[in-house]
Amino acid sequence: MSLNNNSKKPYIVSNWKMNGTKALLHEAMPVWQPFASKAHWIFCPPATLIMETKECFSKVIIGGQDCSSNLSGAFTGSISAAQLAEAGASYVILGHSECRQYRGDTNAIVAEKAIAALSQGLTPIICIGESLETHAANETLTFLKQQLVESIANISGKFFVAYEPIWAIGTGKTATLHDIEHVHHFLREQQPGVPLLYGGSVNAQNAGAITELENVDGLLVGGVSLKIEEFKELLRSVHGISALN
Ligand code: PGA
Repeated sequence: MSLNNNSKKPYIVSNWKMNGTKALLHEAMPVWQPFASKAHWIFCPPATLIMETKECFSKVIIGGQDCSSNLSGAFTGSISAAQLAEAGASYVILGHSECRQYRGDTNAIVAEKAIAALSQGLTPIICIGESLETHAANETLTFLKQQLVESIANISGKFFVAYEPIWAIGTGKTATLHDIEHVHHFLREQQPGVPLLYGGSVNAQNAGAITELENVDGLLVGGVSLKIEEFKELLRSVHGISALN
C-alpha cells in the first residue's frame, strides 16, 4: 500500500545538520512557510535553534537531529529526548549515517534512542542506508533488512524510516528512480504502514520525480534545505504541494 497518492501530502524533512543561524532562520521562514504549509514539513535545525523556531514560527513542526538513549544524567554534550520535547520538537532523526560514522551509533544504540524518544512523545525518523561497497556488491536489500530490524528492535509506537544510501549523502549522486522504488517497495513489504522517506542529494530538479514514486512518502533533505531559493523551488516542485498551489 502506498501512503503517497494524489490526495496525501508528502513529508518533507529538512536536516540543517550543524549549520544555520538565527539570521538564516528569520530570512528563510517567511519564504518557505507558504509552500511548506502544504506539505507535512518537519524542520530539523540544530538544537540551539529549536526554541527560537518554536517561539517565532509556532506552526512549524520541529524535529531534533539526535537524542541520547539515556533520559537524563551525567552525559556531557548529549541532549535528552525530554529536553528536545520541552524545547518544542515532536520528531527526532535517529541513526543518521553521520551519527553512525562519527559518533559510533550502532543499530542497538539507535533502537535504544528510539525507545527513549518514544517515551517522551517524540516520533523517531530512523535512518538506514548502505555503503558504496555494499551497493556495488548487490547486497543492499540484505544489508538494509538487518540494519532496520536491529535499529527498531523492541520499539513500539509510530516511527518513520528514511532510506539514505551513504554514497548519495552530500555527494550530488542520487540513487536512480528505479533503485529508490526497488528499495522502498522492499521496505514497504517489511514495514507496511510506516512512512518511507528518501534522502541523499535531493534537489529541486529531482524532488518531484522521487516523490511521485509509488512507495516514497517523502524526502529527507540536507544541503539544499539551507538554500533559501533552491529549497523554495524544491517545495514548489513536489507533487501534492504544487497541486495545491
Ligand atoms: P544531502 O543530505 O541532502 O545533503 O545529501 C541528506 C541527509 O544527510 O539527510
